[in-house]
Amino acid sequence: MAHYLRNCWYMAAWSHEIGEVPLRRRLLGDPVALYRKADGGVAALVDRCPHRFAPLSMGTRDGDALVCPYHGLTFDAGGTCIRNPYSDTLPKGASVRSFPTAERDGIVWFWPGAGEPDAAAIPDFSMLTIPAHGAPITGYMPMAAPYEMGIDNLLDLSHIEWVHKGSFAGNGVIFAGEHSLEQEGSRLQSNWWMTDVPAPPHTYGIYNPAMRCDHWLDMRWDAPSAMYLQVGACPHGADRTDNPVVAHQAHILTPESEGSTHYFWATTRAFPPSEEGDAMLHGLLSQAFDQEDKPIIEATYANMDGRDFWDLKPAYLGIDAGGTTARRILAMLIAAEGEDA
Ligand code: FES
Ligand SMILES: [Fe+2]
Repeated sequence: MAHYLRNCWYMAAWSHEIGEVPLRRRLLGDPVALYRKADGGVAALVDRCPHRFAPLSMGTRDGDALVCPYHGLTFDAGGTCIRNPYSDTLPKGASVRSFPTAERDGIVWFWPGAGEPDAAAIPDFSMLTIPAHGAPITGYMPMAAPYEMGIDNLLDLSHIEWVHKGSFAGNGVIFAGEHSLEQEGSRLQSNWWMTDVPAPPHTYGIYNPAMRCDHWLDMRWDAPSAMYLQVGACPHGADRTDNPVVAHQAHILTPESEGSTHYFWATTRAFPPSEEGDAMLHGLLSQAFDQEDKPIIEATYANMDGRDFWDLKPAYLGIDAGGTTARRILAMLIAAEGEDA
């Protein structure tokens, strides 16, 4: 059985995915119905009626309450049964679990823990909204692999040179760069720094492609699985804080189950939004994630034949420092929760 870190925030959805009609999404193994309440807040209820286990998301709304599609038990947005169509008495134990939610930066977070939700612990993604360029371009990719394998992938960006030959690979510039890893509590900062390299793809249209650049890929990881990537470039030798070309990206993973993951991604634009430009960027990133990362990560997981990651005694390369440290931090946090319980 999977042991997830529970007293923390996970991304449930992009804000724009949540409306009046409940969205059913499996989160940390449980089916959850997500819908928007009259006050604009988001309700998150376990999507399983306690009577005969019908999905409440197939039911109807009665104000902020959900009416079960099978026999009509009605649950308020906190999961309490408030109506039994067969009797004035409410059946014992007939409530469903609800999860606290919070919405920030276009992201709906949910808190699956028992403890009091800590709003201050929501990772900051305010950089995704650039006033002149609007809300970010967002995407979603289901992945048939555990979320830890997505973290391994994202904290080791050297994979770009192998996996992303069809999109972002840069003829070995990452291998020639410097990598640093810093830990601060349950946060990691995994940075790649490459100097005197060709202008990277995110600068196209701004820098002359023939220009030499200094280029960075700075990845922040917050436990359990929210990552912010700053993709930056400046003219070679210039001060990197002096008007660089920067793209801000979110890579946020939420376990769907032990062996499957919701991969939410977003990127800012270097230009104001346009239908054509957005379609081009969306296409480029979908190609990189759907057709390059996803196949190799899923094939890797399938190839483990259900065996435990550490039991397989993975060979260690220096590039694994980020992913391995993240796994250790997660294991420690999960163990600490077990002790508290
Ligand atoms: S299954 Fe929901 S009321 Fe019967
Ligand atoms: Fe990748």
